[in-house]
Amino acid sequence: MCDASGVDVEGVHHRTIWRDGEGLVRAIDQRRLPFAFEIVTIPTAEAMATAIADMTVRGAGLIGAAAGYGMALAATEASREGSSTTDVHRRLAAKAEVLRASRPTAVNLAWAVDRQLAALASIDDADELVAHAWATAEAIAEEDAAACEAIGRHGLPLLAAIHERTGRPVNVLTHCNAGWLAFVDFGTATAPIYAAHDAGIPVHVWVDETRPRNQGARLTAWELGQHGVPHTLVADNAGGHLMQHGQVDLVITGTDRTSASGDVANKIGTYLKALAAHDNDVPFYVALPSSTFDWSLLDGVGGTPIESRHADEVLRMEGVGPDGDVVGVRIAPEGTPAANHAFDVTPARLVTGLISERGICPATREGIAALYPDLAGAPAGGA
Ligand code: MRU
Repeated sequence: MCDASGVDVEGVHHRTIWRDGEGLVRAIDQRRLPFAFEIVTIPTAEAMATAIADMTVRGAGLIGAAAGYGMALAATEASREGSSTTDVHRRLAAKAEVLRASRPTAVNLAWAVDRQLAALASIDDADELVAHAWATAEAIAEEDAAACEAIGRHGLPLLAAIHERTGRPVNVLTHCNAGWLAFVDFGTATAPIYAAHDAGIPVHVWVDETRPRNQGARLTAWELGQHGVPHTLVADNAGGHLMQHGQVDLVITGTDRTSASGDVANKIGTYLKALAAHDNDVPFYVALPSSTFDWSLLDGVGGTPIESRHADEVLRMEGVGPDGDVVGVRIAPEGTPAANHAFDVTPARLVTGLISERGICPATREGIAALYPDLAGAPAGGA
């Protein structure tokens, strides 16, 4: 069992998801941040699927860890409900499909479900099945945190070199939230930023608000504030202007699915930032753990499943009213048709490099395969 440990929230260490001393799966409710910091209990596999779909838990790495715990809950339920070994596995497979269907774009979800199914496939004994499912869930969570920490170490020299060259604070632009809230701990895009800040390298972060759900404004700004990293919130469309005027030294984003050839799916709007970075010779890096590679995908632009979410997320916004209450407001004429494409794909040619737990590589099939000779060419998701 894993205790809550990791990142400071007002002086107390937290991970985004964990199993507590009573065996309950607990998570930070990200729908409530930054207005309230609340922990929820996720009691069943079905509730986990709902928590992923409604974004109580969100962000590629965290979705993967949540699916790992969801499968442990599923194994516990299936072993209780099943009338025979075959029936237990049949029930487990059905619950796995419910989890798998909860969100389509982050490949970490399918990766974690498949990893659990593979780990449990040959286990007949119900107690052993349950114990192994929980151990695998903990392993997925631990590996996610360790990968993010390593990404911080590998990305740090990029920021250090810029500071050495310019002698001034390093200006990083990031999109969405690929911080510790999007993983179990540390984050990906923010990990080199935290590492640089902690090493005494002055860093300033331009935080894209990231419409429609405002993960930048709500989550990244909150995280950076908690850690004491200087940052400025900007409207989504400001990035090109900032780059044109030399105010961005590098862009670092996360990703929900990166093809074996280096095409990067990430929060809607990432592609536009990459185009602006390319036009202004600003390095554009993407940070990811190996669980976010889709090894079976070569054409990320054509082949990535792009989530379409409810139009209300575009038509409405939530914030704090004058009396301190959290309120939702409509921001368009009543009845306005709206489309909500949640992700886009940045072609590999616009990506300067990929920062992974094994180091930095070019966003090319060859570059990725050289870093991951054991995984490139394997079925979706890696090992
Ligand atoms: O819709 P979300 O909030 O789950 O999307 C998150 C992002 O797009 C992040 O940038 C992404 O997951 C990459 S880093 C985990």
